[in-house]
Amino acid sequence: TDKRLERVKEKVAAIPDFPKKGILFRDLFPVLTFPDVFKGLISLMSEYVKDAHPDCEGIIGLESRGFLYGPMIAQELNVSFVPVRKKGKLPGELVQVTYQLEYGTDTFEMQKNSLKPGQKVVIVDDLLATGGTMAAAVELVQQVGGIAQCGLVVIELVDLKGREKIQGTVKSFLQYSGD
Ligand code: PRP
Ligand code: MG
Repeated sequence: TDKRLERVKEKVAAIPDFPKKGILFRDLFPVLTFPDVFKGLISLMSEYVKDAHPDCEGIIGLESRGFLYGPMIAQELNVSFVPVRKKGKLPGELVQVTYQLEYGTDTFEMQKNSLKPGQKVVIVDDLLATGGTMAAAVELVQQVGGIAQCGLVVIELVDLKGREKIQGTVKSFLQYSGD
């Protein structure tokens, strides 16, 4: 595998019993404490989009942790960045989708005129778990008239089978299972 990915993998932390007993929490924040490792990750993600979707016209980032990666990739590709935010944060005319969390639900919103009709975008987040978050974002992009080319995440927790919930493809760089 790519040297840049190897270095990211070394920095991902695994915290047992967080946020509750029995859960092994994968933490990407340590990667951001090493600017060169973080830069390598952003270049890897940007290169993937350039190669797989050379006609990409925008990056969608998912609040909160998708905001750490999305704008940096958008800068690298010289395309626009558009946020998906949690309910109540965005002004103006909105579309919204409610999605399932482990306990209860959450609601994501996007501004109605944030994409041009048929705009091709890639949806960026830090991690794919059950897939509810990414599936909601794909739905929002469609509702505002955009075309989701793929979902792009750093980490995939494969046992949760999140990608089965999502229309279209998801690219992940690190896969974890069977903890
Ligand atoms: C986490 C993570 C992903 C999502 C994945 O976000 O950042 O967005 O969960 O879970 P899923 O695939 O089961 O939907 P969280 O909602 O904890 O909020 P945050 O990004 O604001 O920290
Ligand atoms: Mg999140």
